[in-house]
Amino acid sequence: RACSLRPLAFLLVTLVLVLFGMGVLSPRILMLETRSEGEGQSPAEPLACRAVLFFRMLYPQPMVMTPSRKDVLVLTPWLAPIVWEGTFNIDILNEQFRLQNVTVGLTVFAIKRYVVFLKLFLETAEQHFMVGHRVHYYVFTDRPADVPSVALGEGRRLVVLEVPGAARWQDVSMRRMQMISDFCERRFQREVDFLICADADMRFSDHVGVEILSPLFGTLHPGFYRATRQAFTYERRPQSQAYIPRDQGDFYYMGALFGGSVAEVQRLTKACHQAMMADHANGIEAVWHDESHLNRYLLDHRPTKVLSPEYLWDEQLLGRPAVMRKLRFVAVPKNHQQIRN
Ligand code: UDP
Ligand code: GAL
Ligand code: MN
Repeated sequence: RACSLRPLAFLLVTLVLVLFGMGVLSPRILMLETRSEGEGQSPAEPLACRAVLFFRMLYPQPMVMTPSRKDVLVLTPWLAPIVWEGTFNIDILNEQFRLQNVTVGLTVFAIKRYVVFLKLFLETAEQHFMVGHRVHYYVFTDRPADVPSVALGEGRRLVVLEVPGAARWQDVSMRRMQMISDFCERRFQREVDFLICADADMRFSDHVGVEILSPLFGTLHPGFYRATRQAFTYERRPQSQAYIPRDQGDFYYMGALFGGSVAEVQRLTKACHQAMMADHANGIEAVWHDESHLNRYLLDHRPTKVLSPEYLWDEQLLGRPAVMRKLRFVAVPKNHQQIRN
């Protein structure tokens, strides 16, 4: 009897090995399994509704003795991940954030002539930004009629928020902090889970997804990721609220991309706005405006993730070094004088 079962057992083992092999060779294959939830959890619902789908994903094992990247820092001294290509598995992350049914807000300011950047910004965001997740674009503008209509994918919507412009470009840039903090209370906290705040003179050129989501994140400035803290262009005058002495500072973050949970972004933008008002009352303006205050804030409230310069790049200025395996969000060349005045 034991003898007659042997071919069947052999077949079963072979089948299991073949399936396992398929999973290893193509890590994106998902195996579907259904299970019903434990009894008595919600007795009012019929049993069929309580059946939960589990996707069992097969992917390469993370190896403890094999670092994901040897050429760059992937963890800050306060144990926040620094997000580089090669350090994350997007399938695992997508599954986690899909189960939460996360909604991501993306704020972008297009005041005066900056409306010309919106079309490319939005079209490339549709291709690369949070694909497969719920997205709300929030376009702040003084020219609502000039917001282009861009075809949006399922689960994605665009909201135009009419706001006043300002004469000086520095004021346009700085007032973003105040307006974002105002709208956090007025609607963002009810509409989205995370808020990403970006410059308009940019386009998405590769994947930018849920790997960036965290309670509070900043992005390394592409011009300073190799620099020492003495060379960072922090505000150096002690009279300013943004002051950082030469022997302090972790990284130089760029004002063109930051974000986090709505609660954390509200705290950050409110604090930066208040610091800028205090500076104004004292007759001082920080050297790089809102960016200087962002750097001061992120030194006092360290971010829970840091995005590598893959997420803020300027190819015209900096070319394409090999360490940047992907260029995800890149500057659109502009004539500063012409576009700002
Ligand atoms: N901005 C705007 N209108 C202006 C000036 C600035 O809408 O007249 C917004 C826009 O979103 C822009 C951001 O403020 O991307 C920051 O300004 P800018 O990109 O010119 O600064 P840079 O990246 O060149 O330092
Ligand atoms: C420039 C950038 C400015 C500011 C500055 C900081 O490259 O255009 O917006 O970030 O670096 O030194
Ligand atoms: Mn910019």
